[in-house]
Amino acid sequence: MQVRFLVSEALQHDTPLMALAVPEGITEPSGLLADVDDATGGAVLRALESGDLKGRTKDEVVLYASSQGPERFALLGTGEPGRFDTEQVRRFAARAVRVAERLGLERLSLWLPGSDGPGGRELGQAAAEGATLAAWRFTELKNTESGEGPRTDVGEIDVLSDSEDVGEGVHVGYVIAEAENLARTLQSRPGNRATPSLLAEEAHRIGTEHGLAVTVFDEARLRAEGMHAILAVSQGSKEEARLIVLEHAGGNEGDPPLVLVGKGLTFDAGGISLKPPSGMEDMKFDMSGGAAVLGAMQAIAKLRLQANVVGIVPSSENLPSGTAVKPGDVIDTLAGKTVEVINTDAEGRLILADALAYGARRNPAAMVDCATLTGAVVIGLGHHAAGVLGNDEELIQELRDAGERSGERCWPLPLWDDYKKQLESDTADLKNVGGRPAGTITAACFLSEFVGETPWAHLDVAGTAYGEGKQPYLRKGGHGFPTRLLVAWVRGRAS
Ligand code: BES
Ligand code: MN
Ligand code: ZN
Repeated sequence: MQVRFLVSEALQHDTPLMALAVPEGITEPSGLLADVDDATGGAVLRALESGDLKGRTKDEVVLYASSQGPERFALLGTGEPGRFDTEQVRRFAARAVRVAERLGLERLSLWLPGSDGPGGRELGQAAAEGATLAAWRFTELKNTESGEGPRTDVGEIDVLSDSEDVGEGVHVGYVIAEAENLARTLQSRPGNRATPSLLAEEAHRIGTEHGLAVTVFDEARLRAEGMHAILAVSQGSKEEARLIVLEHAGGNEGDPPLVLVGKGLTFDAGGISLKPPSGMEDMKFDMSGGAAVLGAMQAIAKLRLQANVVGIVPSSENLPSGTAVKPGDVIDTLAGKTVEVINTDAEGRLILADALAYGARRNPAAMVDCATLTGAVVIGLGHHAAGVLGNDEELIQELRDAGERSGERCWPLPLWDDYKKQLESDTADLKNVGGRPAGTITAACFLSEFVGETPWAHLDVAGTAYGEGKQPYLRKGGHGFPTRLLVAWVRGRAS
């Protein structure tokens, strides 16, 4: 996949397909649309007059040119002119890729005017993101073509504009979306092909390719460090646990780092508290937080962001077996607190407890974790926002803002002490579940016990990390969420 930026006149550019945004309210072609009208023998005017092209977001008209330059034009409705924001640009670019796919084209071009709305840079970034995300597909495990006949993958996208600013954004958006696509690829691999040790190998590869220092703790090292919560979750599985640490030294030496932690549970069967079989295959996605941290670290390195950033991915399986941790067992943690395991399916918070305690030892300026942690967040917020909770209101606000900019939004839930009572244990310092009420909040309360004084926030991405792929730039499966959000937050801190 390649995304390029060119300063060029749309009508001069040789391309099989040129996509243009057409907002609502246009009754006759002017400016660039008038040129396209000329190049297509008056077809734009006919499309407008027929009512086929009213600029609604469902409108999509493909016209064929009779002159030099683009062979085809895709005129895509983009709704109210005032609402062509970065998310609409992402969708516009993605729809252009879908048109190219349907026509069997490997290349296409997008025309983006320099803008007076959001800055040109943001527009260019959003366009590159939308196009790059849309063109991704997970095919590595298919050996034969499926029913629909020969398939074309879009491999080359040119973004054209009259503004150089757009070009800077295109580069950034491409790097970020490629990183999110990496996260989607890792997410899509099933449990037998994305074990903790394979994830660690991927981390080493990313580190070597992009200049990140990578350290991996195996089980002997986890034991030596005292990370007994990760080991407890892993003890029912033949696959060994790992703790993966990636480091980007983009800031001044000695500056406190930003720490990103991602849950890397490569398959969550629930353990002895076994999950019901229906849909259990989706629990291969329980490493989505870890995948997003790996992706974000790749983008942070490639963009050479001026900050010290540490990415931490605790990784394990959660399976039932004769050696598995049992309800009622009391386990030790790195932070020194003991935990009574009431439900072995509340395992994410256990591996995160050790990873957060380890992250806190780095004295971070701030620490953010992301995890497919609770089914409850799907009930509360559905598939359109992650839950965000933490001990620092400013940090939470930064994440909400980064969510708006990146199109990966999050919404706050309270983390009041009142909820902590639900975690009191008769035998240990805490128990790992707080009952039915406020499941997302009590899970975050549990995590908060392991971060000490560190400014910290938690993103519960169980409803957003993967799904049906309803947005035009996504597909059914891994969504890479919150790779873009994490990178947007770090970029905000770095500049
Ligand atoms: N990985 C699951 C959470 C999850 C649920 C992710 C649905 C994606 C979709 C997590 O480990 C889990 O099992 N959580 C339990 C916690 C409960 C036992 C307190 C849950 O949410 O049911
Ligand atoms: Mn679970
Ligand atoms: Zn889980």
